[in-house]
Amino acid sequence: MKHRPRRLRKNDIIRSMVAETRLAKDMFIYPYFVTKGKKIKSPIEAMPGVYHFSIDELVKDVEKSLQLGINKLLLFGVGETKSKQAKGSHSKKSIIATALRRLKAEFGTDLYLITDVCLCAYTTHGHCGVLAGDQVLNDPSLEILSKMAVAHAEAGADMVAPSDMMDGRVASIREALDEQGQSDIGILSYSTKFASAYYGPFREAADSSPQKGDRKGYQMDIRNANEALKESLIDEEEGADMLMVKPALAYLDVIQNIKSHTLLPLACYNVSGEYSMVKMAAKHGLVNEQQLVMENMYAFARAGADVIISYHTKDILEQKWM
Ligand code: PBG
Ligand code: ZN
Repeated sequence: MKHRPRRLRKNDIIRSMVAETRLAKDMFIYPYFVTKGKKIKSPIEAMPGVYHFSIDELVKDVEKSLQLGINKLLLFGVGETKSKQAKGSHSKKSIIATALRRLKAEFGTDLYLITDVCLCAYTTHGHCGVLAGDQVLNDPSLEILSKMAVAHAEAGADMVAPSDMMDGRVASIREALDEQGQSDIGILSYSTKFASAYYGPFREAADSSPQKGDRKGYQMDIRNANEALKESLIDEEEGADMLMVKPALAYLDVIQNIKSHTLLPLACYNVSGEYSMVKMAAKHGLVNEQQLVMENMYAFARAGADVIISYHTKDILEQKWM
């Protein structure tokens, strides 16, 4: 027999030597949900192992995360005062702004802080932009999103991650940041964000569901791969520093395609629904959690993701799964 591929699979040593995909802890970003109050660490039921933290408890948890090697966080504000025009989104006193100042004071440059920039957790109607009737208005939303990005930068964010899917937001945010002397602040664009059912548990966690209608008028159609590339190239051209595909698991083809057409680092967001599915299956003894989680992580990297945003990050590092 001329071909015996099994020779390279003989044992762990040789398999590891010829492994085509590697993971490193530097690739991982861990999301945190931050809420008002004190001494709060309340479990999010649909996402076992994930919590709402008040800032005092957040500081304690981040300290533990840092010890595990988690030094890039993606922050979401929860339970903020809601209004039609999402005023809370760019307040200097918002939960996120307060958390940013506190984390910077506590940990300085040991931590790299990224904030989600979107209006849905700050609007009474729960849409990612401002409304006129049933319409989500694009350009008026840009102004508010830009103010939000600037507020986060001023409070200590290293990078902002717009997830609203309004047209032109990267250019608008870039311009606003530069005008305010924040040209060092990066933009991680949620460039390909599909209108997905996989965000279910997150919306419960962030209290950000639209009261009426859905997000299909701004988030991308799940059937479209060319459009995903188009959006990515537009965001690259508008000045994004990094791109993203979200969700991740059902969109490996999209990750691979975008990776082969951009020179920017590409992140994928292993979202709440993907996390919950794995946790529930593991809880019922249907799968081996460690194996399943790592299979998913390798799949993201194999498809071309340079960076992985995942709620599994803590388990992976704490339990030394890689
Ligand atoms: C806000 C936002 C969402 C997620 C990240 N930012 C929800 C949504 O668009 O409805 C989803 C994250 C997850 O499911 O883990 N726009
Ligand atoms: Zn939103």
